[in-house]
Amino acid sequence: MSIFQPDLLKGQTAFITGGSSGINFGIARRYAEHGANIAILARNPEKLSTARKELEKTGARILDISADVRDFAAVQAGFARAREAFGEIDIVIAGAAGNFLAPTVQMSANAFAAVVGIDLLGTFNTFRASHEYLRKPGARLLVISAPQAVNPTPLQAHACAAKAGIESLIKSMAIEWGPSGIRINGISPGGVEGTEGLQRLSAGGLDDAFKQTLPIPRYASVDEMADMALALVTPLSAYMTGHVVALDGGTSLLGGSYSLAYLKARKPQS
Ligand code: COA
Repeated sequence: MSIFQPDLLKGQTAFITGGSSGINFGIARRYAEHGANIAILARNPEKLSTARKELEKTGARILDISADVRDFAAVQAGFARAREAFGEIDIVIAGAAGNFLAPTVQMSANAFAAVVGIDLLGTFNTFRASHEYLRKPGARLLVISAPQAVNPTPLQAHACAAKAGIESLIKSMAIEWGPSGIRINGISPGGVEGTEGLQRLSAGGLDDAFKQTLPIPRYASVDEMADMALALVTPLSAYMTGHVVALDGGTSLLGGSYSLAYLKARKPQS
């Protein structure tokens, strides 16, 4: 149950990349429950269609856009469709992400480029393409980062580089775009139950033993992420820009020791 007014986002439009699943879908649902029109952009048309039908149950107006965030022209066309359907865009979530466990010596240049392309270039493309369609002043932009931005993490060099890049990128953009009334912030989730990201990383043996090493020894829920994503687009955060909230149970406090715990918690690989 949300502590915010049900019609908090009534009449506003949110554009969410990666919005067909996981944390981003949870954010889309929370915004829809609070009256926003929602455009979700993702690669897989079937998953998009399922997500749209689910979101429509809230009574909100939903648009699904099949595109790859690495394709700037496709993202731009997505924003044009959303503005045609709903008017100026109030909120943008750059949430599309990719990840898999791989030692750098087994990571091809294309594998590295895939994750950096989806996460970092995808975030740039989303925000850059959004600019001409945004409500100015008033737009709020959010990134979904990860503790890997600050914790050096073995087997995830691509994701670490990409998330660190994202956190730097939004600081530059926040300075440039602040005077036109655009705020850019982010959330850095640690492990979130029920997401493909956690499932993929768990496949490497990141099990309950690792969870117990966290300062808050549990993973988060999608709802916790959605609630913070709502708070960050309300007047509660009106004087905040260029900041990433660590919603990670303290994972990002662990720094290099996180890597050690991570390796120790991995099951031996055959
Ligand atoms: N280990 C090593 N390399 C891998 C890999 C893995 N598990 N998965 C993909 N790659 C490599 C591919 O082999 C390819 O490199 P190559 O051309 O040298 O062989 C490269 O990555 C690109 O693969 P491709 O399948 O074309 O990538 P894509 O652009 O469709 O994106 C993913 C692949 C894995 C990045 C993407 O599908 C993904 O992450 N999906 C999951 C989404 C998700 O979990 N989101 C939450 C993340 S927190």
